[in-house]
Order: sequence, then structure tokens, then C-alpha cells
Amino acid sequence: MSDAPKLLVSHLQAGYGDVQVLWDISLDVKAGELVCLIGSNGAGKTTFLRCVSGIVKATSGTIAIDGRDMTNAQPADLVRAGVAHVPEGRRLFSAMSVRDNLLMGAYLRDDKEAVAADLERVYTMFPILADRRRQDAGTLSGGEQQMCAIGRGLMAAPSLLLIDELSLGLAPRAVELLIERLRDINRSGVAILLVEQDVMNALELADRGYVINRGQVSMSGASSALLADPAIREAYMGL
Ligand SMILES: Nc1ncnc2c1ncn2[C@@H]1O[C@H](COP(=O)(O)OP(=O)(O)OP(=O)(O)O)[C@@H](O)[C@H]1O
Ligand SMILES: [Mg+2]
Repeated sequence: MSDAPKLLVSHLQAGYGDVQVLWDISLDVKAGELVCLIGSNGAGKTTFLRCVSGIVKATSGTIAIDGRDMTNAQPADLVRAGVAHVPEGRRLFSAMSVRDNLLMGAYLRDDKEAVAADLERVYTMFPILADRRRQDAGTLSGGEQQMCAIGRGLMAAPSLLLIDELSLGLAPRAVELLIERLRDINRSGVAILLVEQDVMNALELADRGYVINRGQVSMSGASSALLADPAIREAYMGL
């Protein structure tokens, strides 16, 4: 199954209680690929990532990781399968130190030496987090909190990183730096599924993209094709 995609979602339907949010979504991310998911507020992007990480249950359809069926698996099983989720709003433990927040990402690992090495790798990637390691995460700036949330995701040693709203509320300079780091992470072999409001940035970064509209995939393809598409330029870039 080595040629199976990292993530393969087929005909996924999901929602909350009686309210269906996702309708027949099929999407794949190949090993090492960087794919973005775009769509307006309330389209279902966060719900989709929550399904992939086992937080929201599918009502039908399937989710497979590396060719293995993981539909409605527990979140911890998805983490063990290599899926790490950087949630919308970052969700750090604000009264815990930066270091302890990072270590939370490794809670299922018992390879202590590798965890210590990965912690150093995160500090090298984001030196400001090393400077702030003993400080409460709640005292970090918005950009630093996003670095910490991404670092926490990396501490799970993922092969697929799900990122929900990379740039929301951040200054352009902070966004630039985060984008550079995402490129590095992706080059190191980690596949990334990125949800991003800034459609231009997202498509410039990603290999491919999917557009979700009212819970359905309305368009998908190579980033270059989506970037050039007049309907996308008008709807999501205001061009
Ligand atoms: N916990 C919940 N209970 C009930 N409905 C929810 C819940 N979370 C989200 N929804 C609904 O599901 C729909 C999709 O929401 P979702 O958060 O997935 O959208 P999104 O594409 O991530 O939007 P945004 O760009 O604003 O983050 C919305 O109509 C929302 O109101
Ligand atoms: Mg969202």
C-alpha cells in the first residue's frame, strides 16, 4: 500500500446533530504534498479537518490514511497514524509554559530521546519559542502563538499536518515567516493540508487546492489553474 495517498477521503458526509454540514466530499493528499482548502466563512472547512482528525464523526463516506481505513477512528488513533491538527484559534493552554505546550503534542510518544530532539528542532525552527520557553503561552504574541501551535503539531512527529487558518489576525511579516517555515516543514517530507482565508497566499504556497462551497467541493485542481480562474479571483480574491 506504499503508493496509497497519505489521506484519501471519499464521499464524506458529516454534521452536528440533525444539521448536515459536509456533503459528499472527496479529497486526497499525496505523501509530501501541500494542498490547500479554501472557501467562505461557514463553508465547512473546520468541520472537514475535524472529521479527518477524528473529532467530528462521519455519517457516511470513508477516511483512509496510508491506505488504512480510519473512518470514525478516535483522535488518538489518528495522531498515532501520523495526523496532527493545528486548530483554528490555536487553542494553546495559556497558563502553561511554551515548553509544556510543545510537549503536549508528544503526549502519545514514549521515545524520549526523539522527543527531546524534536523539541530542539522546533526551537531551531522558531528561535523565539526557545527564548520564551518558560513563559506562559498566554503571554505570547499572536504570531508566536501560531508558531507554538505549529510546533506542538510537529511534536507529534506527523506525516500529515492539518492547519486551520494559518494567518488569521496576524501581521504580514509574521505570515511571511510562517509560510517560509511551512515550506521547510513540507520539504522535510511532511504532507500539509492547509485551510487559509488568504486565498492568494494559500494557492501560491500549495501544489493543489480544493474549493469548498456550502459543504461541497465546488472546484479543485492545480494551484496555478485555480489562481488563474476568473470565478475564484472574483469570489475569493476580490479581483
Ligand atoms: N459545534 C457545532 N455545532 C453546530 N453547528 C456547527 C458547529 N460547528 C460548526 N457548525 C456549523 O457548521 C457550518 C460549518 O462551520 P465550519 O466551522 O466548519 O466552517 P468554516 O468553513 O471553517 O468557516 P470559517 O471560515 O468561518 O472558519 C456552519 O454553518 C456552522 O455554524
Ligand atoms: Mg473554520
